[in-house]
Amino acid sequence: MDLPTMEDSKIIFALDVYDRDTGIELAKNLADQVFAIKVNWPIILENGIKIISELSKYSKIICDFKLADVENTDKLITEKVAQYGAWGIISHAFTGIKSLRAVVKSAGQMKVFSVVSMSQESYIDNVYDKLVDDSLKAGVFGLVAPANRPDRLKKIRDISGDIKIIAPGVGAQGGNIISAIMAGADYIIIGRSIYDSPDPIGAIKKFNDEATKL
Ligand code: XMP
Repeated sequence: MDLPTMEDSKIIFALDVYDRDTGIELAKNLADQVFAIKVNWPIILENGIKIISELSKYSKIICDFKLADVENTDKLITEKVAQYGAWGIISHAFTGIKSLRAVVKSAGQMKVFSVVSMSQESYIDNVYDKLVDDSLKAGVFGLVAPANRPDRLKKIRDISGDIKIIAPGVGAQGGNIISAIMAGADYIIIGRSIYDSPDPIGAIKKFNDEATKL
């Protein structure tokens, strides 16, 4: 894929805005500073699924839809997202290995990431090891684990080999980029600390500098 993303950046930008023009402008301006851009429901609900194709002109797009349904429904959603050129999709893992396998099978070229622990405490905290196990067995490309809970992140890294880990929770949720990378994160997901900044490009540059100091 010939896109202006910075392959050596460790930042995934969480583009959590509603407005199309704001989203496109941010994507255009920030694409060459980030590894990928993650979209969540806000921009899709406001603009429809075609916004994925529009944004894909600027960066690899990861759809954070946190799939959590039975296998057939997860499959239908995944196939639809793939048609619009997304690079990756995020699924929950707590619905079990059948659903995860359905997502992986229907993803085509898309990379599948599964959530094994949240950046806030949740009921899946008690089963993160089983979720890692199921995710590895299902053949996902990567895991989502909390950057702002480095002890938990380290435990997840220790049981998951060298699979990619993408980690939200830096900045607005209190996490620190260096401790997250030291604990085993490959990429750090950051939203509000970038798009709420008066200087989003400067904010990303600072995070990139911090990440490459290690
Ligand atoms: P902020 O603004 O907090 O944005 O930097 C973080 C982004 O990541 C999402 N998020 C999560 N996604 N597991 C996930 O898969 C999590 O535990 C988690 N916590 C935050 C959030 O929706 C936002 O897009």
